[in-house]
Amino acid sequence: MKVPFVDLNRVHNPLREELNQAINRVINDNSYILGKEVEEFEKNFAAYCDVGYAAGVSTGTDALELILRGLGIENGDEVIVPANTFIATASAIVSAGAKPVLVDCDEDYNIDATKIESAITSKTKAIVPVHLYGKPAHMNKIMEIAKKHNLKVIEDACQAHGAKYDGEKAGSFGDAAAFSFYPAKNLGAFGDAGIAVSNDKELIEKIKMLRNYGQSKKYHHNFFAFNRRMDTIQAAILNIKLKHLDEWNEQRRKIASIYSRGLENLKGIVEIPEEDKNKEHIYHLYVIRTEKREELQNFLKEKGIDTGIHYPLPIHLQEAFRHLGYKEGDFPRTEEYAKQILSLPVFPGMADEEAKNVVNEIKSFFDNNTKSD
Ligand SMILES: Cc1ncc(COP(=O)(O)O)c(C=O)c1O
Repeated sequence: MKVPFVDLNRVHNPLREELNQAINRVINDNSYILGKEVEEFEKNFAAYCDVGYAAGVSTGTDALELILRGLGIENGDEVIVPANTFIATASAIVSAGAKPVLVDCDEDYNIDATKIESAITSKTKAIVPVHLYGKPAHMNKIMEIAKKHNLKVIEDACQAHGAKYDGEKAGSFGDAAAFSFYPAKNLGAFGDAGIAVSNDKELIEKIKMLRNYGQSKKYHHNFFAFNRRMDTIQAAILNIKLKHLDEWNEQRRKIASIYSRGLENLKGIVEIPEEDKNKEHIYHLYVIRTEKREELQNFLKEKGIDTGIHYPLPIHLQEAFRHLGYKEGDFPRTEEYAKQILSLPVFPGMADEEAKNVVNEIKSFFDNNTKSD
């Protein structure tokens, strides 16, 4: 049985007509950038995250950068960030002029909160925890450290739309949070889009100026800034899709439970994601770990099952970040996991049978391979 890694048609097909109508409305209005749907979506998404305000921007990376800039983070400042994340988290810090200071992950894949304090220097201004794969980082501990050292907290919630920690939404803990609406995210646009959310009204006002050339009123620019605006068509699409996000997250969680139940007997050979009582993981990605990663991935490929690796080369070993001065061995857990992780297919509309088939193929792979060890 072929199983795609993601199939967005299954997400969009039931909504085709509604989506087409919304797109046509924007075309008829001729209001393609920062139109009224953007404002509507900002309100809707802020409410969804239980925060006061939001600013729609062009990407999640831009949301992170503009939050950092809006909070006054600048050249010479240091920002603490997990070594185990997508490169954009660190890129946004560099784009804002600051220096990313990396911290290893723990068994949860997220930043190891016990290692944050030793990375703090007199130059540290902020911590950017990432809710990687859709599972919230250890926000209580992180907020406690930030308070003690007077640091800002910017949540990278680009993979965590609707995730919860102690019953509170990801994105509602820090000074601000960034979300990405890259098409394959739990809430995805039909192109690039992102948003910054915060309870700080002034910060969001500043970001709204930063995204639009520092403009206060038409053709009056108060400071040097950028074009990082959200397209109206994306907002119109996101307004429709947002109504289905909780139901889609539930479907992802159901697929995840089929995987976890099916694979728990392989413990020691295959590590599955831990379900913590105080965290609601929304499974942007369902990531397992095995020392036979390459062989398993090739085997599944032969069976028609697509998988992914998020991410094969940690940030500190990327050519682009060589200037940070890190070397192999600096973040042992991140490095070890990068060689072992494998993301299984998970998306709304995925059939239980597809997930069961993935489980069975993984089991048959290990049945055949553990005997020869
Ligand atoms: C953890 C993380 N941070 C930041 C980003 C950047 O988002 P975007 O691709 O919208 O710029 C992404 C998404 O790709 C991400 O997964």
